[in-house]
Amino acid sequence: METKESTFDFFEKDKISSDEHKIILVTGGAGFIGSNFIRYLVQRYPNFKIINFDKLTYAGNLNNLTTIEENANYAFLKGDVADPKDVKTVFEQFSPDYVVHFAAESHVDKSIINPDIFLKTNIMGTQILLNYSREHKVQKFVQVSTDEVYGSIPGDGSVKEDAHIEPNNPYSASKASADLLLRVAYQTYGQRVNVIRACNNFGNYQFPEKLVPVVIHNALNNLEIPIYGDGKNIREWIHVEDHCRAIDVVMQTGKSGETYNVGTGNKWKNIDLVELILKKLDIKNDLISFVLDRKGHDKRYSVDSSKIRQELGWKPQIEFEEGLDQVITWYKNHMDWIEEIASGKYMTYYDDIYKPRMMETE
Ligand code: NAD
Ligand code: TYD
Repeated sequence: METKESTFDFFEKDKISSDEHKIILVTGGAGFIGSNFIRYLVQRYPNFKIINFDKLTYAGNLNNLTTIEENANYAFLKGDVADPKDVKTVFEQFSPDYVVHFAAESHVDKSIINPDIFLKTNIMGTQILLNYSREHKVQKFVQVSTDEVYGSIPGDGSVKEDAHIEPNNPYSASKASADLLLRVAYQTYGQRVNVIRACNNFGNYQFPEKLVPVVIHNALNNLEIPIYGDGKNIREWIHVEDHCRAIDVVMQTGKSGETYNVGTGNKWKNIDLVELILKKLDIKNDLISFVLDRKGHDKRYSVDSSKIRQELGWKPQIEFEEGLDQVITWYKNHMDWIEEIASGKYMTYYDDIYKPRMMETE
């Protein structure tokens, strides 16, 4: 495993007494939500020390963090959550107070084609992190799970945290399995844990394989916009920054052993959301193309998030359409970010930027 050790002088833990100086291990911090969460932490808590531990799969992009990569309280480590050697090294070197676990294979369509890596990363990776968190007496382990573990929600109801887990695709089954491992960590080993299950996120830096960035990117490039099936599947949407605030609240104030749903009530049929984005872009609907449906495609997601609102005082702050306008503007202004992904250039960022720096410090 490769580390960028030169910036790690702040990890002299013995000198740290105040609670303000928490050391947070963020797994999957080079991905969409993880990178937003790291930026949020850096801005909100200048004293927190943040370790970003990420394998840099196709979905990991260090370009997502250029605005904060020079921050003295931030460090990146390349490693695999499913490799005990890598995880051991991280824990032994840095002994984190908190673990916020985002690292995952996250794309449902990919999971249907190749489930194995989803099981390895999302299930085994979680267990390995839990093992070392126990050994190193981590104060809190937060599992960033998803509303998809509940499966499709019939009628017009919403599910609370105690609803049955009924995943219908390899991705959601792997996330549900990881949630159960958190339960075991709490029940059997007395570890301090929380599970957080949010609805669909949208926001800056989302990889263009998920619906919202696919629509914006394809529309701006005059490409077909694929709608699976009849387009009437319903998803509930949250701006990623509201999700980050919820994770923070749960990390710091969530009651150990508890699961918290995170939702907004903003539910959209896919086709209606796509048409709304096209309207905002002032682009005609004729790019829309109805394509073969996803196998096992969940019809509807909808969570009841009254628990986190009532018990922890969280609520979404970003009005849905304002958030969507902001994200559309961001993508328009960051065409270079998406072009680097389309060209594959982002994948060399680590070799270009980090490796030479590591050699300089050796
Ligand atoms: P993402 O695919 O954008 O990012 C995943 C990150 O994990 C990448 O940086 C990748 O390099 C890293 N990673 C993958 N395998 C790894 C491994 N073996 N070891 C270390 N790092 C590895 O995903 P995202 O959309 O940011 O989602 C983050 C988390 O939030 C996931 O756990 C996902 O299940 C959950 N979640 C996502 C949504 C959503 O709408 N995107 C909603 C609810 C929950
Ligand atoms: P996605 O962004 O993949 O998230 P998830 O499957 O985790 O909910 O998809 C959101 C919805 O949009 C889902 O019902 C599948 C649908 N979809 C399309 O119709 N076309 C697309 O190109 C994509 C990526 C998704």
